[in-house]
Amino acid sequence: MTMTAHPTPQAPVLRLLNVESAYGPIKAIRGVSLQVRKGEIATVLGSNGAGKTTILKTISGIIDPRKGAIEFQGEDITARDPAAIVQRGLSHVPEGREVFALLSVRDNLLMGAYTRKDRDGVARDMEAVFHYFPILKERAAQHAGLLSGGQQQMLAISRAIMAAPALILLDEPSLGLSPKLTKEIFEIVVRINRERGTTILLVEQNANMALNAADYGYVLENGRIVMEDRCDRLREKDDIKEFYLGMKETGVRGERRWKKKKTWR
Ligand SMILES: Nc1ncnc2c1ncn2[C@@H]1O[C@H](COP(=O)(O)OP(=O)(O)O)[C@@H](O)[C@H]1O
Ligand SMILES: [Mg+2]
Repeated sequence: MTMTAHPTPQAPVLRLLNVESAYGPIKAIRGVSLQVRKGEIATVLGSNGAGKTTILKTISGIIDPRKGAIEFQGEDITARDPAAIVQRGLSHVPEGREVFALLSVRDNLLMGAYTRKDRDGVARDMEAVFHYFPILKERAAQHAGLLSGGQQQMLAISRAIMAAPALILLDEPSLGLSPKLTKEIFEIVVRINRERGTTILLVEQNANMALNAADYGYVLENGRIVMEDRCDRLREKDDIKEFYLGMKETGVRGERRWKKKKTWR
């Protein structure tokens, strides 16, 4: 391989190099390095408070990092203005969805496409999200605030797709949803990735879902990446099986498992 000054087609869509972010005196992420390749689903697994949301907020410019660098499509976007980062092709589906409750479902989707000028493309993508989530088509004229939690998550994901982004950041889509709905939404996210080639960085507490959906995974603990590998390999590791998938702790409730201390080998 030769070195070039320009990004090559194999270059990652997103790269974090030693990124550190804090809230006042509280260091939330401590030297996080990771990358997302074009066309893949990458995931960051971690329990509550590990720093997942902070990573995504730092990428999209909501929080400025104290240290480190973020590169998006070969360009340094560290501490750039969030609107400028959106313009460059990044869509963030925040934790807790945050749809516009008083706008219709259709208008929420159009808000996602506000930076686009290709009307035909917008119309095509609207049809595409209605194809993936038919319930949104049925409810297109209703206020988004009237949707159930699961439907709002579908809308938030669809709104991100409407921007035709180079990368979608997806913050815990499973939060507050039933296992059945979570499974449904994950299956569709995987279909969208496979069929449209959409590149996704997913952060999740639900390791089982995330490891089945994603290609490559990072394990985050107390703001640090403690392990990374292809997801098919992560699923086979004893640490992951015991702690995150709970296979050897039948009878222990999920919440308890998440709070347990774990030393990584
Ligand atoms: N606005 C905030 N002010 C102070 N501390 C925060 C704030 N948001 C998050 N934190 C702290 O930063 C750490 C990481 O939080 P977060 O990124 O939200 O984790 P996760 O998304 O993995 O649950 C936690 O210790 C949390 O308490
Ligand atoms: Mg979070």
